[in-house]
Amino acid sequence: MASNPPPKLQIHLSENDRLQNLKEIFISKFEETPMFYARAPGRVNLIGEHIDYCGYAVLPMAIEQDILAAVSLNKTQTIQLANTKPLYKDFTGSAGDIQIDKSKPLWHYYFLCGLKGIQEHFNPSTPAGIDCVVDGTIPASSGLSSSSALVCCAGLVTLEANKKNLSKVELAEICARSERYIGTEGGGMDQSISFLAEQGTAKLIEFSPLRATDVKLPDGAVFVIANCCVEMNKAATSHFNIRVVECRIAAKLLSKAKGLEWSRPLKLGDVQTELGVSLEEMLRTVDEVLHPETYSKEEICQCLGITPEQLGSTILSENTKHVTQFKLYQRAKHVYSEAARVLQFKDICDQAPARAIQQLGELMKQSHVSCRDLYECSCLELDQLVATCLESGAVGSRLTGAGWGGCTVSMVPNDKLDSFLQSVRDSYYKPDARRAAMEKQSLFVTKPGRGACIFLEA
Ligand code: GLA
Repeated sequence: MASNPPPKLQIHLSENDRLQNLKEIFISKFEETPMFYARAPGRVNLIGEHIDYCGYAVLPMAIEQDILAAVSLNKTQTIQLANTKPLYKDFTGSAGDIQIDKSKPLWHYYFLCGLKGIQEHFNPSTPAGIDCVVDGTIPASSGLSSSSALVCCAGLVTLEANKKNLSKVELAEICARSERYIGTEGGGMDQSISFLAEQGTAKLIEFSPLRATDVKLPDGAVFVIANCCVEMNKAATSHFNIRVVECRIAAKLLSKAKGLEWSRPLKLGDVQTELGVSLEEMLRTVDEVLHPETYSKEEICQCLGITPEQLGSTILSENTKHVTQFKLYQRAKHVYSEAARVLQFKDICDQAPARAIQQLGELMKQSHVSCRDLYECSCLELDQLVATCLESGAVGSRLTGAGWGGCTVSMVPNDKLDSFLQSVRDSYYKPDARRAAMEKQSLFVTKPGRGACIFLEA
């Protein structure tokens, strides 16, 4: 049940090499045994890209790859963080004074986002001091939500360390908000699935209020993740926030044209709700109100009757103030059509018609085209990899996550899996030495995994 807290599971460490290994690293670092362990998984989004922050439902599942943390408490209110990967440097700071620098997305800032979110919620007079070693298996900057999994894991660690209770939904909401301390204005998909996932089922995640509904995937196919081997760190560039801002401006222009109150914070989804019309009708409204040519700042200000200063202070975010041209028509078209595809995907899974796999594949293909052409969040390598996956036998293939690099997800009929994997290996990975070296952790079958939990040594 979503209103329950994340489970606490008793585990025999002798049966789990990774936990055992993490325990040993923890002991060598802090000279004591961990009190507990926390785990938060990454995710793959099957369909519904860049629409969560517009208020629309998305359809992800948790993956097996995760962030695992070994934790004990200290009495000095110090936060001491270490990572099993030497690339990620140790961090020490005061639990009472958390600083997150938006200009540098260092690994420990994601931990501090989750920690700060929980601390602010409870506002403890003496926040717990935490010693923690983190071990991650989600490839970084690959669109599989390694950063949100770290935020969620840290949120859960902080909750347990301060002996507090929250439901999975509350945790997901707090972690979604607090990840924004790093500067990206993401929606809530990644944190929601990390907490609300259940083994064996994908989830339709809806927002305001946050809820998750099981989506049973068809039996005849599997989902395969493939990394295009281009890294994209969404906090290190402004691509992501530019899209968020374009959607925000499009929502205001549509609202104003339709006589709605437009000066308050508005999402594209709010406009539909207020108008009380279908997504198809919203697509017609976009055609009617917005133009495909780019909008300059001057034109936006003129349409809304605001000054450039007001645009800068109330609509643009810190790292989008430099943008001079905005594509509003294309972004709104993507959002409303992608929102409709998510609902169709769920309906097909629920009804399981004879051609379900083909129909789902078709929606995934359309989603990729929309991400590529209207939302422009793909890249050459992702497009090339999607084409390779389709030529290798996938019924559908698309970029997953924020895009501009990272992974694709493909739906592959069970009986074609072996030849599919072989063909993608031969065509995409083997011909390039760098890709070939990354192939093992870059191409894999994935099944819906379970959500975040605490482990206690039995
Ligand atoms: C990132 C964000 C999510 C979502 C996706 C794109 O993962 O964190 O909230 O917007 O990009 O669908």
